[in-house]
Amino acid sequence: MKKIRIGIIGFGGIARGAHLPGYLECKEDAEITAVCDIDPAALQAAKERLNLSDSQLFEDYRDLLSSGLVDAVDICTPNYLHCPIAEAALEAGLPFSVEKPLGMNYAETKALITHAEEKGLPAFICFSWRYRLYTRYLKALIDRGSVGKIYHIYIRCIKNSGLWEGRPLEWRFEKDKGGSGVLGDLGSHMIDITRFWGEEFDEVAADCGIIIPERPRIGSGEIAPVTTDDWCNLIGRTRTGVNVTINVSRCATTIGDLIEFELFGENGHLKYTYRDGQQDIEICCGKTDMEAGGTHHITPPAKYDANQSRSFINLLQGKKDSYTAELIQGVECQKVLDAALRSIELKRTVKISEIEEGL
Ligand SMILES: NC(=O)c1ccc[n+]([C@@H]2O[C@H](COP(=O)([O-])OP(=O)(O)OC[C@H]3O[C@@H](n4cnc5c(N)ncnc54)[C@H](O)[C@@H]3O)[C@@H](O)[C@H]2O)c1
Repeated sequence: MKKIRIGIIGFGGIARGAHLPGYLECKEDAEITAVCDIDPAALQAAKERLNLSDSQLFEDYRDLLSSGLVDAVDICTPNYLHCPIAEAALEAGLPFSVEKPLGMNYAETKALITHAEEKGLPAFICFSWRYRLYTRYLKALIDRGSVGKIYHIYIRCIKNSGLWEGRPLEWRFEKDKGGSGVLGDLGSHMIDITRFWGEEFDEVAADCGIIIPERPRIGSGEIAPVTTDDWCNLIGRTRTGVNVTINVSRCATTIGDLIEFELFGENGHLKYTYRDGQQDIEICCGKTDMEAGGTHHITPPAKYDANQSRSFINLLQGKKDSYTAELIQGVECQKVLDAALRSIELKRTVKISEIEEGL
């Protein structure tokens, strides 16, 4: 079968660190035949790592889309460009994969999915946590009723990446480019994981704040304000009545990377911990601590591991599975992000239906 030709738009951290290795594992089915970035250094890096010629490198995504060199595109740019580039890809008749969060607000994501449905083109969103071994296995444990009916979901995703010495005012620290800070960056994954486990949000209340209020601009070094959240706490209720608590931060002193998912259900308790590369699942079964037969540590079977890029290629080949994150997952997540931002603004609980109805 002919290989699918992929064009990457935005060759920064996530494209180089995650997408590129993912595609290289699918060499028999896909190849990267064009790259676009506004930064000449990024294009040079793409040229060297992928052995591309100058005619395969673009500074304007519109030129890549009309080049005839690609069958699909992978959008890895800052958030504010996701929907405009995806819209342009659809106009060019090209399917796409896009990084999370899908857009800057629900209205633009709704317009995008309507357009994609009209065109009938496959569209994928990079909720990368869905492809992780431990998260997938947790889903299997939940689906097979290991903890029974869920009572509580407690999630913490905290890092110290906002505290790195001298970190400049990257796009993610500016509201007009990021939309939000850790809410959209880390919170979107946590919202999606909750949905991946089968729970749909009905309402949320949130609070957020900025800890490092200003940073030097890239290039000029001029000190400018940070306008996106460094931390966000979200409490939600799902349609089945499960209460969900999500804490995200990029200012967790001394913590490189900590993720905890804790679920309590009628039959017991499941806990996943990721700390600086080390992972563990604990399960404790029983209705009370007296009844529980102790805590067991589980290593997931390797078959639960997956590759996000492979899932995108599968979608393009018409072989999606029930775990695949298509555009609708990005739209559903965006509703919750919008509701959280509205809650922060209005200082009250916001129903997801208010966002859907544009109230
Ligand atoms: N799934 C995940 O776990 C994960 C992790 C990190 C980042 N992301 C997402 O990936 C996206 C990119 O994040 P990043 O950390 O790689 O950022 P980055 O700043 O490292 O890379 C973005 C790249 O886009 C390029 N770019 C900017 N404007 C462009 C334009 N108009 N046309 C073409 N290229 C353009 C930049 O020059 C840069 O090379 C964001 O949406 C982010 O939320 C996802």
